[in-house]
Amino acid sequence: MTDIDQYLRLHGERFEAELCDLLRIASVSAQPECRAEILRAADWLDARFRRLGFRSEIVATEGCPLVVAESPHVEGAPTALVYGHYDVQPADPLDRWTSPPFEPTRRGGNLYARGATDDKGQMLTHLLSAEAWVECRGALPLNLKYVIEGEEEVGSRSLETYLAGQADRLATDCIVISDGAQFAPGIPAICYGLRGIAYYELRVAGPNRDLHSGSFGGSVTNPAGALAKVLAGMTDNQGRVTIPGFYDDVAPLSDQERRLLAELPFDETEYLLQLGVTGTWGEEGYTLLERRWARPAYDVCGLWSGYQGEGAKTILPATAHAKFSFRLVPNQDPHKITQGIKWLLTELCPPGIELELVDLHGSPGLLVSLESPYVDAAARAIEQAFGRRPVLTREGGSIPIVATLHETLRADVLLLGWGQNDDNTPAPDEKLSLADFHRGIRASARLWQELAHVP
Ligand code: BES
Ligand code: ZN
Repeated sequence: MTDIDQYLRLHGERFEAELCDLLRIASVSAQPECRAEILRAADWLDARFRRLGFRSEIVATEGCPLVVAESPHVEGAPTALVYGHYDVQPADPLDRWTSPPFEPTRRGGNLYARGATDDKGQMLTHLLSAEAWVECRGALPLNLKYVIEGEEEVGSRSLETYLAGQADRLATDCIVISDGAQFAPGIPAICYGLRGIAYYELRVAGPNRDLHSGSFGGSVTNPAGALAKVLAGMTDNQGRVTIPGFYDDVAPLSDQERRLLAELPFDETEYLLQLGVTGTWGEEGYTLLERRWARPAYDVCGLWSGYQGEGAKTILPATAHAKFSFRLVPNQDPHKITQGIKWLLTELCPPGIELELVDLHGSPGLLVSLESPYVDAAARAIEQAFGRRPVLTREGGSIPIVATLHETLRADVLLLGWGQNDDNTPAPDEKLSLADFHRGIRASARLWQELAHVP
């Protein structure tokens, strides 16, 4: 692989420049006003694949387009399908960024921009590694297919629809995804589990207008107070979700898995320090890593009602709103969770209030088999590029389409995160370490070699 390593070194700066080009595109899928930028990001990728000599197509959908590409066919070689996403989370709060979110900036060995790690930088490693193969060897040692979508951050609905008819076209031996993190700096990981998600908006309506809290307070239910009670009622004092049957389908942690998780070099004090908090919280009876990766969790993601300006205004607000989610673990079904919440809401709803639940999106969790020969191949590739064998981890985050990809294509999934846990994914100052970017490209180049030789 010395020719390929040399090529990667020689072209490393251009690779960074290309990533910066893509990062300048504000492809925020959640914001309709970013539509033009979404299309621009899809165009950019499509053109990039063509420049590589790959067949590429922009697939229009009801939402954001998909980019589907394929390397020139290599007879008799296995196939890997790369999944990634070009959409990013909203950049707000804008005033908390050290440099603007869509003006990629290098600082201290990192590249700062929205999407740097999630997922433009990580996804691009699998395209650039392919370039090195094509340029150095004239061809890849295996067949590569790429499905890059633009709706991952809002639930992947369009890709779900597209996949239903494409099992043959996308047929593959394994699925490669880099859209996560290493265990820690210098400790690469192969992730074998993702949590699912069920995400909702709750609208609370009370009186037909804001009321004077002096004239009317104490006479009717306050929507803001009602919302607070309802949200608080969804967990108990042991940190358990109160929806009836919520835990019925939860895949339990085996003793062996608990032992493996406990052996990971995780420092809770360091974790608290990094997050700037003084204590932990969560479901009783489980370690912090278990709670983050392998147990369900409930979180309020947004909350608004009443007067938010300066000073005091004495109102009893007419409405209140919240966004909240449940992170799910394997075997929990998002649809069942929705039924459960609806029931709980009718129980918790105070008089004189109307609750409207909007189901924004849901997807199940995933566990990948560690018996897969592709996992061994990936471990070898990572060891060569990172100089250290990867540890096995799970992830608390979700990649909504992965379970469907796995089932539709009946292929093993490789979750190979090149990022770090402190990359500030949905927050201001998202970053990717440039060293990780280049290691990721090197690992990817070796992955093609290793996967080509899996019997
Ligand atoms: N790449 C993340 C998921 C992730 C985060 C994996 C951290 C590993 C570590 C992904 O793009 C993401 O943000 N997913 C959303 C999905 C949701 C909006 C349906 C998530 O997990 O919140
Ligand atoms: Zn992502």
